[in-house]
Amino acid sequence: MDKLIIKGGNRLNGNIRISGAKNSALKLMAAALLTDEPVELRNMPNLADSRFMARLLSTLGVELYWPQNDSVCRLNAVDITSTIAPYDQVRKMRATFNVLGPLLARVGHATVSLPGGCAIGARPVNFHLDAFQAMGADIVIEQGYVKAAALRGLKGAVIDLPFPSVGATEHTMMAATLAKGTTHINNAAQEPEIVDIANMLKGMGAKIEGAGTSSIIIEGVEKLNGISYSVMPDRIEAGTYAMAVAATGGDVLLEGAPANEMTSLIDHLNRAGVSVTVEDEGVRIQRNGARLKPVDVDVQPHPGFATDLQAQFMALMTIADGTSTITENIFENRYLHAPELNRFGADIRVQGKVATVHGVDHLVGAPVMATDLRASVSLVIAGLVADGETEVRRIYHLDRGFENLEQKLNACGAQIQRTAEVSA
Ligand code: EPZ
Repeated sequence: MDKLIIKGGNRLNGNIRISGAKNSALKLMAAALLTDEPVELRNMPNLADSRFMARLLSTLGVELYWPQNDSVCRLNAVDITSTIAPYDQVRKMRATFNVLGPLLARVGHATVSLPGGCAIGARPVNFHLDAFQAMGADIVIEQGYVKAAALRGLKGAVIDLPFPSVGATEHTMMAATLAKGTTHINNAAQEPEIVDIANMLKGMGAKIEGAGTSSIIIEGVEKLNGISYSVMPDRIEAGTYAMAVAATGGDVLLEGAPANEMTSLIDHLNRAGVSVTVEDEGVRIQRNGARLKPVDVDVQPHPGFATDLQAQFMALMTIADGTSTITENIFENRYLHAPELNRFGADIRVQGKVATVHGVDHLVGAPVMATDLRASVSLVIAGLVADGETEVRRIYHLDRGFENLEQKLNACGAQIQRTAEVSA
């Protein structure tokens, strides 16, 4: 298993090109199941998660051409040879569950392993299943598998989501494109990735209105066609590097960063005393001299502050000049990074969904353990700013969601080295 060794204390200066958005790309790949024509995805991030999704799609019979490190992925679901998504290919990554809806809509049945819980919370799939049931699917859960059938096709329905779930909104929207009649999704999630997925589906001939608002209307069509589509830039990756620069100080242009989708973070960074400038090529982050100011964060569904940026913001606030509070309202257990950040000398106390961060003068490098994707990168940010050496273990979490992380940061002056972790 690999680990990262970080020598902290260097400012970051230069340019970082932002990759395609993981959380959009994974669902766009699943959407290829909705058509028997070729789908070409450009600006694809080369990540453990996207490769994992590719393997599952191959198991289902999708022809895939995606050379290593290539940003173009070609998929052709002309012949779906299996409608079973096995446990080993679903349990490790929740987004793979999103093949259920497309299979149900295109073929009329699917058997998909339950994704199970994960480190950040229970993450059930009841909203997804309730929506498919409302659309006429028969669903049973047997031996850890969801067995769903809609042999005469899915029907349009009114879906009132109890919470604006990103996954349930995307999943229902995808399935509804091929349903008979009209589907209304009320209390829909408004994340930019949903707009990206809707844009691709519309390019394939789907009829969708309202993506990006709390009310989405989908009129089912008989058939979708193939497409060549470019994945949107990753606002979470961009936000992460913005906070790395804010923490170390320096001047970095985040090339291709989607400023319009980062407004809440930009507002919080400004309040912390970080300069954020939107330029033609992307977003420039600058911080020189003065200490960061403490800023409270209330994590909310989009357009609020993103839960996927919470851990990184906490890392930033550990060195602010004063006390800040962070309230996580999306996941019930997303503070696993707090005790790890405290190993650097940070002073964070968690009580329920509120974390209180008392800023300290400086952090000191330490051996730490990555627990989930965004938590891991918060430890990298702390390592970049800490005095001395930091070892981040279990970095397979990082490889799930950050393309060429150490290359991108090292090109701006960071000193991060990847080595094999020798177990005791
Ligand atoms: C997506 O997860 C993202 N994952 C997450 O990013 C992100 O944190 C999350 O949206 C919120 O923005 C992908 O896109 C692959 P939800 P998702 O459904 O869709 C509850 C990362 O690091 N809920 O909006 O699973 C759920 O438990 C990942 O890249 C139900 O109760 O999130 C949670 O408390 C981590 N029943 C809340 O809703 C359901 O059926 C929001 O979850 C579905 C969700």
